[in-house]
Order: sequence, then C-alpha cells, then structure tokens
Amino acid sequence: MQERLEEIRTQALESAESASSEEDLENIRVRVLGRKGELTMVLKAIGKLSAEERPKIGQLANKLKKEIETSINARKEALKDVHVRTFIPGLDPTLPGRQRRLGRLHPITQVMDEICSVFERMGFTVAQGPEVELDFYNFEALNIPPDHPARDMQDTFYIDDKVLLRTHTSPIQIRAMERHRPPMRVIAPGKVYRCDSDITHTPMFHQVEGLMVDRDVSFAGLKGVLTAFVQQIFDPDTLVRFRPSFFPFTEPSAEIDIQCVICRGKGCRICSQTGWLEVLGAGMVHPAVFRHVGYDTEEFSGFAFGLGVERIAMLRFGIDDIRLFYDNDLCFLHQF
Ligand code: DAH
Repeated sequence: MQERLEEIRTQALESAESASSEEDLENIRVRVLGRKGELTMVLKAIGKLSAEERPKIGQLANKLKKEIETSINARKEALKDVHVRTFIPGLDPTLPGRQRRLGRLHPITQVMDEICSVFERMGFTVAQGPEVELDFYNFEALNIPPDHPARDMQDTFYIDDKVLLRTHTSPIQIRAMERHRPPMRVIAPGKVYRCDSDITHTPMFHQVEGLMVDRDVSFAGLKGVLTAFVQQIFDPDTLVRFRPSFFPFTEPSAEIDIQCVICRGKGCRICSQTGWLEVLGAGMVHPAVFRHVGYDTEEFSGFAFGLGVERIAMLRFGIDDIRLFYDNDLCFLHQF
C-alpha cells in the first residue's frame, strides 16, 4: 500500500509540475483526487486494512492529498504569471522596473520644523500672519516711524502706500497680542520679503519670531530661553554671546552670537576671523509696542526675538551660498 502511495505521489507531482494549462491541471486533479481517482481509491480501501496498518496508511494518504492539492494550486498560480508574460503585447517583464523617486522635505522646511519643535518643547505655541501685510503691523505698531531707514524703498516691496510684503515676522507679534491677553508664549515661522540678492541674501527668505509676555518676564529669562535653543540646534556646548544692539521695537536690544561652528572660535572665512557668528536679534518688548495693543506696561513685561532660518540652515549644513536653497537642483536637494 505504501508503495502504491509513493507511485501516485511521484506521478502526480511530476505531471502537475509540467502541466502547461489549467485544463491539464484539472485533468490531473480528476485522475488522482476525483471520485474514482487513484488516491481516492486508496483512501476508500483503507477500511479493509488491518487495525495496525490503518492509521499509518490513513495518515500518509491524507498528507499526500494535501501535498498534491498544494502542488496543483501552486502550478495554477505560476501559469497565471506565464499567461501575463506571454499575452500582454509590448510588456517585457524582464526589464528593470522604473525607480520611483521618493520626495522629501526641503532642507529649509526641515530646519524650520526643528526650530519650532525646540520652542514648542519650551511651551511656545505657533502663530501665523499674512505675508501681504499692512504698513501698520509691519512698521508703525513696531515703533518704526514713517521716516525710519528700514522703510527704504530699496528694501521693502510695497504694493501701495499702505500695503506691502512683510519684511520680517515681527508683525505677527502685534497680531498675536491684539487677539490674546498675557500670559503668552508664541513663535511665528514664515516667509519674509526684501529687495536684496547676493550669496547671503534672497528676496524671499524665512524667519522665526518669538514673543513671551507675562508678569516678571526678564532679560535673564530671554538669555535662558535662547541659550537653551542654540544648544539644542547646534552642539550642547556651543558658547553664546549677547551683544548690545538696537531694534526700534525692543529696549534694551541685543544681537546674539554663537561661537563659530566651523572653526570653533579660532577664526575662519565664515566668521570673518572673529570666531563668532550672529544668529539672532532680540530684546525686551518696547513700551511703545505694548501701548499699540493696549497692554498695561506697568503690569506686564516681555521679550521678543527673531532669527533667519536660512542662516541657521547654512551653518548647520556648511552651505556657503544661500541661493542653492532656491535653485531647485535635485542633486543638491537629495542630500538632505
Ligand atoms: N525683525 C528683526 C529683523 O528682521 C529681527 C528681530 C530682532 C526680531 C529683535 C525681534 C527682536 O523680535 O526682538 O531683523
């Protein structure tokens, strides 16, 4: 009996493997597994075997049945592939597939997201404002009077007397304060526009603005927040320096330098041999700004800061021409 099973097995598997159509396979199935099929007959005869032999042969026969079914099905699937291969005109499945290029986030978007998440972890929420802005928000409310040099026609893209493309993200400070009462902690990332173009300037670039207002907000708090920021974006041991400066909307104002990330302070071309790189503008919100939004200057104080995203990205990735970000050269962009 066992020999007979072995015989059925060899024949069935061989013919299944070499079958060239579904029809052939169906014939094999009927021949072996059909109602009067070879294996079916064996299974039927099992009852006549001795009690000893019965379970053993029964087990073998059932196992074989499964094996043959599997082999027939596998061949059926394989034939389907052959079918596709042979019968779709013009399709050559042996050709290599076309590679699908994966898209990715622009390096500026990546750096901007990273900057925002550092501040979000410190409790800041994200605010937004329009890129086409009123003169009032971009200048007037920020204590930049009509004759201030920052309004020079060479820098600002004016749309008409009162409307312009925002030259910085600072107007979002005003919009945020108009809408909310302190305490507040907001950052405002976005595009800004200036009529300027060379290896460190593009007419459109990105800034992230920050504003914190509450009772007892101090310059020490500003130093703490910005130092923590710099050390998360660059190395944890990056040195930070606050230099007195001037902005119309802050008093006192400071510019924040970090130790040159290229030469580590020794002096190189990137830091013009000074060992330091300017990365942020900041200061304590000017009382004139608070008055524009109706905040009580006796009760509240605040700090603000602004940074250029392209500049941070250039330092992070060691890029020396800002225009590379906007040439849309895939060889460049694919590195990030
Ligand atoms: N708005 C400034 C600029 O575009 C950057 C800036 C400086 C923003 C000081 C601030 C600040 O909020 O306090 O150059």
